[in-house]
Amino acid sequence: MLRLGFVGTGTLASAVIDGLQETHGDRCRILVSPRSEETSRALAARYPNVERAESNAAVVEGSDVVFLGVRPNQLDEGAADLPFRADQTVVSFLAGVPHALVSEKVRPATRVVRVNPLPPIRLRKGPVVIYPANPIVEDLFGGLGDLIVADKESDLTAIANGSAMMSSHYALQNRIIEWLVSRDMARRTATLYVRSMFDGLAAVGLDAFAKGEAVDPAHHETKGGLNERGRRHLGETGWFDEIGRALDIIEAHSPSASPKDRP
Ligand SMILES: NC(=O)c1ccc[n+]([C@@H]2O[C@H](COP(=O)([O-])OP(=O)(O)OC[C@H]3O[C@@H](n4cnc5c(N)ncnc54)[C@H](OP(=O)(O)O)[C@@H]3O)[C@@H](O)[C@H]2O)c1
Repeated sequence: MLRLGFVGTGTLASAVIDGLQETHGDRCRILVSPRSEETSRALAARYPNVERAESNAAVVEGSDVVFLGVRPNQLDEGAADLPFRADQTVVSFLAGVPHALVSEKVRPATRVVRVNPLPPIRLRKGPVVIYPANPIVEDLFGGLGDLIVADKESDLTAIANGSAMMSSHYALQNRIIEWLVSRDMARRTATLYVRSMFDGLAAVGLDAFAKGEAVDPAHHETKGGLNERGRRHLGETGWFDEIGRALDIIEAHSPSASPKDRP
């Protein structure tokens, strides 16, 4: 039975524990840190294999794989004086915090792996980026979405910035829903329609990837038709270029950017 421990039981740790129940529930025992009392108690009540530990030290003591789920600015306090061991694997969820810095905090553990899951992991969907490769961590996250083992650490930084468009994705969906509602469509109908449309389009995109095909927008519209009209308008007004500029702004403000690069 693999013993997993979470130091920091917040939004992401909860989503990972939810996801893991389906794939590894019968093969692992999970200790969670007691802080965020409501969340840690709720997890322990929901799952028989989850136990709320007395302290962060008890989590580390009782685990083979330790997940660091605190926020980057909470690392110093969260990892201070914990009894890490050389035989442990440490998984860091901390976006933008370098591998070398986490490694320093968790000595004498040397098997440190950065993992960037996203909230859809709760539903075992979405990308899970891992660096560096590690068979135990790859097995744990293998069934929880699309596993991507990064070639180099800088990919994690770029990916964290690219992921910062997630909320804009929902803003786009919601704008279409509001427009449909303004055309007298019932909100429930409009919402299901739009959420399902984007879900289907995402599935088609991934299917194309699996077949080694590109997704050319021009192949997903009728020549001279409505999709083409909408896309042409957005292109002419610079909407797609603005997405690139938004990503530049996100990058400049990310924790890994040096202060002098910030606008
Ligand atoms: N959320 C995402 O989509 C996402 C995606 C990729 C990576 N990440 C990374 O995942 C990490 C967690 O993010 P999150 O969204 O889950 O944040 P969060 O909900 O704020 O979770 C952080 C948790 O750590 C707890 N904590 C703080 N100090 C602690 C300490 N000294 N000992 C034990 N627990 C402590 C907090 O407890 P209190 O509530 O009591 O303060 C909270 O439960 C971050 O490093 C973030 O960069 C998040």
